Amino acid sequence: MNLKADIEPGTPSGGVLAVLGLAGHPKGLGVLFFAELWERFSYYGMRALLVLFMVAPAAEGGLGMPAAEAALVYGNYTMAVYLLSIPGGVAADTLLGARAAVLIGGAMIAAGHFTLAIAHPWTLYAGLILVALGTGLFKPNISALVGSLYGPHDTRRDAGFSLFYMGINIGGFLAPLVTGFLAQSPAMKGWLAERGFDPIASWHWGFAAAGVGMTIGLLILAFNRTLPKTIPAAPQSEGHDRQTPSPILALVAVTAGTLALMALILLSDRAGFEFLRWAYVLVPAAIAFWLSLSLEDVQRRYGAMFVLLIGAMIFWAIFEQAGVTIALFADQLTRSEIAGFAFPSAWFQSLNSLFVILLAPLFAALWMKLGERQPSSPVKFGLGLACLALSFVLMVPASIQAAEGRVSPWWLVGLFFLQTVGEMLLSPVGLATMTRLAPARAVGLALGIWFLGAALGNKLAGVFATGFQSAEPQALAGSFLWQAGLAGLAALAFFALTPWIRGLMGSVK
Ligand code: PHE
Repeated sequence: MNLKADIEPGTPSGGVLAVLGLAGHPKGLGVLFFAELWERFSYYGMRALLVLFMVAPAAEGGLGMPAAEAALVYGNYTMAVYLLSIPGGVAADTLLGARAAVLIGGAMIAAGHFTLAIAHPWTLYAGLILVALGTGLFKPNISALVGSLYGPHDTRRDAGFSLFYMGINIGGFLAPLVTGFLAQSPAMKGWLAERGFDPIASWHWGFAAAGVGMTIGLLILAFNRTLPKTIPAAPQSEGHDRQTPSPILALVAVTAGTLALMALILLSDRAGFEFLRWAYVLVPAAIAFWLSLSLEDVQRRYGAMFVLLIGAMIFWAIFEQAGVTIALFADQLTRSEIAGFAFPSAWFQSLNSLFVILLAPLFAALWMKLGERQPSSPVKFGLGLACLALSFVLMVPASIQAAEGRVSPWWLVGLFFLQTVGEMLLSPVGLATMTRLAPARAVGLALGIWFLGAALGNKLAGVFATGFQSAEPQALAGSFLWQAGLAGLAALAFFALTPWIRGLMGSVK
């Protein structure tokens, strides 16, 4: 549990030391750590370019899409990535086993990025679909494999997951530096022109780098024999087996349900069907309320999970605009230079991960120090949402200033700092609480609910981002302000409802 021993808090080399901290952990953790590092490298490296590539005019090698349309594509793609984790997890449990699932998923992800590397108008959707399907197989199952390395009472488990989260963010930190350099820097464009390549196709070199990253992750997995093939099943309660439907039937049902849900979510983009978006909040709220009336502990705990899902969804709806609203703000309205050093605008995308690497050890130490006195998870959710609200409040004066010309890069540094503090309060806390609220045999279901929150949040991020207009800073300020208000209200709701939520959670804090 002692993360402090593994990582010196606050040192810039925290990530490197974290890797060394792998030593006291089961052998498989190193493999999973590096495989996930490279998978996230590919995900965030491509995401840093995606919207900029879609809106760039054809003369600059882009697709010339209106920003609002690109925002919807972004939301639907990132939604699909996380929604497909639900059938992806079930596919591993019933059919493939986790090891095969991550290998097949990783290969599909790499194929998707290499598809995007081809400069052709048709490759965008084919590439995105491949990455989304592959990530659905990869992401939930690599996390499950981490869990399977530790026995139920192994005290190293939480530290193992914290290290794994470090791996995610080392990938997320490095990737935009590489892909942004390849796609956006004058140096790269000059190099391409000198060698007879088309310099405006530099985007596709960035996408190829994402593909190379995933390939490295895949090789690490493929050449490693220490990983368990499948995750040992949790013990079933007595007499439960007879009621369990056939696993294949379960997979078909879950996949069909997910696809139906996805169809409804996509339908909500159509004129006249936007009202369907209210269901993202109203349906989980109704389920939570209904379950809260139950006298059975287990049902009430599921009620709490749906409340957390709503909080997480609102959080991600604002946070995940990093890759769209904030990426566009960075590219079109911010000076990409610090102390005279000019850099590609995609580099701003590294800040979130950089702050995670710096702050995660501090938070681990803080929770350790507070021990029993630390706030309950609903309070942490409220605090996380409050930090997020502040981050968008900060963007109001930044947007107003943007009317005068490009603004200082420090606004975005401040934004990402506040958002990352929020992330530390909500994301790891939410994941751990969900898995503890679920009965042992239903941890996969709890993860599914957690990923559903991420999926719906990412979808809403795309929807909210359709309001982005770089030409109208006033409208932009208004958009940041109402979204800050939304996060602020959600924070207040969590504070006010804490006693009720804690009642639903029973003995789980
Ligand atoms: N940075 C996190 C990751 O890539 C974001 C995330 C949180 C994704 C929760 C899915 C679910 O893993």
